[in-house]
Amino acid sequence: MRKISIIGAGNVGATTAYYLAKSGIADVVMVDVVEGMPQSKALDFQHAGPIEGFRCNITGTNNYADIQDSDVVVHTAGIPRKPGMDRMDLLKTNVGIAKDAAEAIRTYAPNSVVIAVANPLDVIAMALLRGTGFDPRRVVGMAGVLDSTRFRYFIAEELDVLPENVTGMVLGGHGDTMVPLPRYTSVGGFGLAELLDAETIERLVERTRKGGGEIVSYLKQGSAFYAPGASVAQMVEAVLLDQKRLIAASAFLEGEYGYSNVFLGVPVVLGAQGIERIIELNLTFEEKAALDGSVAAVQKGVEELDSVWN
Ligand code: NAI
Ligand code: 2OP
Repeated sequence: MRKISIIGAGNVGATTAYYLAKSGIADVVMVDVVEGMPQSKALDFQHAGPIEGFRCNITGTNNYADIQDSDVVVHTAGIPRKPGMDRMDLLKTNVGIAKDAAEAIRTYAPNSVVIAVANPLDVIAMALLRGTGFDPRRVVGMAGVLDSTRFRYFIAEELDVLPENVTGMVLGGHGDTMVPLPRYTSVGGFGLAELLDAETIERLVERTRKGGGEIVSYLKQGSAFYAPGASVAQMVEAVLLDQKRLIAASAFLEGEYGYSNVFLGVPVVLGAQGIERIIELNLTFEEKAALDGSVAAVQKGVEELDSVWN
């Protein structure tokens, strides 16, 4: 059986484990620093097995050594934001946690594909890349799938159509500067501009940019986890099943789109090797300018990473 390890068994980690257990494609190990917590969640999952028909083992541990030989490692460990906080406010704490995790991944799961989730996402992906020393194609950040599924949902709700009918891409950093691309969004194959006026599209774009914040303002004590968990699970499946799935994800850029040495949400083909290809879209002047703004925000975070990394 293949093996997935999830570092951080909090809301996103445990929800991801649930979706993966349902698909049964690999054994799942949840690691957390809180004693007894990942063990209790794993046992609780197993109790649901006879009803849900789980076909895999789910275990919980406080010991990083248990991620040994994982095929995929998902990094969700870190603090989530509270109302009034920006994702960048989490940087210092979450970089420290990511550094320890990266060392464990390098030691125990040297051949894994790493999926970064903790925020600020594009900076944490960079920390995991530095800390593991992996080939950049084996470190990928989850944000584009989540931002895109929110955009797709808002469009489906507006048009009263099946959400699956909507395909779309949100690029850029995972923050308020993200770049939804209505021009590359379609509903049942029809361009979005055929179905919605410009003002409505702009309203949905803006709601997408603030989608994570909308949840935080309701929850008050944390951030979203059902849609994030589903998004991570889709990426894990793409790797384990070598699906070559074309999605938006945070990738380390080495000249693509004119940027280097930075993680940014771009269209990628995700398969067994991690990021197998980065797709370079033709962007309009306005779209490229928006992406430039998003890169600038991520680069500010990377400068802060440099100042705490030693
Ligand atoms: P949570 O607080 O429910 O869970 C985080 C878990 O990490 C806790 O159980 C904590 O004990 C654990 N942890 C802390 N230090 C650890 C360490 N050194 N080793 C192992 N575990 C450790 O938070 P939640 O909601 O699960 O969010 C986790 C992170 O994911 C946050 O930074 C959040 O902002 C981010 N996030 C990112 C998304 C994205 O689109 N990239 C979407 C949703 C959340
Ligand atoms: C989200 O977008 C908090 O980044 C997380 O929900």
